[in-house]
Amino acid sequence: MFPQKLVVAVVGATGAVGREMLKTLESRNFPGTEFKAFASARSAGTKLPFNGGELEVQELTERSFEGVDLALFSAGGSTSEKFAPYAVASGCVVVDNSSAWRMDDRCPLVVPEVNAHALKNHKGIIANPNCSTIQMVVALKPIHDAARIKRIVVSTYQAVSGTGHKGISELEAQVRQLFNMQEPEVKVYPHRIAFNCLPHIDVFLENDYTKEEMKMVNETVKIMEDPDIRVSATCVRVPVFYSHSESINIETEQKITAKEARAILSQAPGVAVCDNPSLNIYPLAIDAAGEDDTYVGRIREDNTIPNGLNMWVVADNIRKGAALNAVQIAEELLNQNLLHIDELKTFLD
Ligand code: A2P
Repeated sequence: MFPQKLVVAVVGATGAVGREMLKTLESRNFPGTEFKAFASARSAGTKLPFNGGELEVQELTERSFEGVDLALFSAGGSTSEKFAPYAVASGCVVVDNSSAWRMDDRCPLVVPEVNAHALKNHKGIIANPNCSTIQMVVALKPIHDAARIKRIVVSTYQAVSGTGHKGISELEAQVRQLFNMQEPEVKVYPHRIAFNCLPHIDVFLENDYTKEEMKMVNETVKIMEDPDIRVSATCVRVPVFYSHSESINIETEQKITAKEARAILSQAPGVAVCDNPSLNIYPLAIDAAGEDDTYVGRIREDNTIPNGLNMWVVADNIRKGAALNAVQIAEELLNQNLLHIDELKTFLD
């Protein structure tokens, strides 16, 4: 079923997500016959542990994709914009974790539990959605199928690892400085993140929302394939290292009780219901860290409207929110026999 020769590259392999991509390929026994690691010139020669040995990081260039069949990108939007078209032109299928291609009509935006069928239209680049969007749609698609969601109001509590290594280092350094009675250095975020919450992720747009908030609005509609779903989002960075948490309120067309929602979600792919408030059991960021599932709890009816539900949704933003989802897309490409590109020049116009 799998090709005899399958050369797989990770672009941005030294980053927080890139390292997790390598770990995920390894732990899921992804059937590559050769693996390559690319990053910037700064990291060339760095050795990364892989499959019991090491991969030597190479500088990413326009020619890096010769002989590569599949590349998982997580090296920022500008790197994807510049290099993904070269990959496609040399016949390499790209799964891109940046926001560069997500809203491009030529690129499917895929969460395998939700819309794996969208892969069949790919033209070489498949986009991996924003981390906050992925866990939200994994939890909401089964409810949408059962009762049709009309409106979503979501507030996020997002970990610093969403900003990559530099976010993790900033929180670590500030906590150390504060415990040593030193003035914390503010370098990565506009304000101190240690013991603080910042209602500001990515840049502010003309409509006063942040780009992160608008990603949740637009990507949800594209992945759920329903232009009528309205989404209102507030995205907040919190001093947590791994896992994003989300408070989600939905209004549905048909009535769905909390009990019915719990039953539906307990059968849903990629979801783990964790909901026993009398025993203080609900999803926690520290429990979700390092895990694959999207955890859902605090499921309860919203008594202010006829058809409303509230829930608390938590997932590891580096795993399901990024690396794992990308590797699952790659596995789907293999399973659906879609690891080929029919129009090699599509992205180089
Ligand atoms: P490098 O480590 O050489 O800077 P994170 O999001 O954790 O900061 O990781 C970003 C990843 O993207 C790193 O692997 C980083 O490599 C890589 N990267 C950043 N800019 C480029 C570039 N211009 N070309 C290739 N890789 C890049």
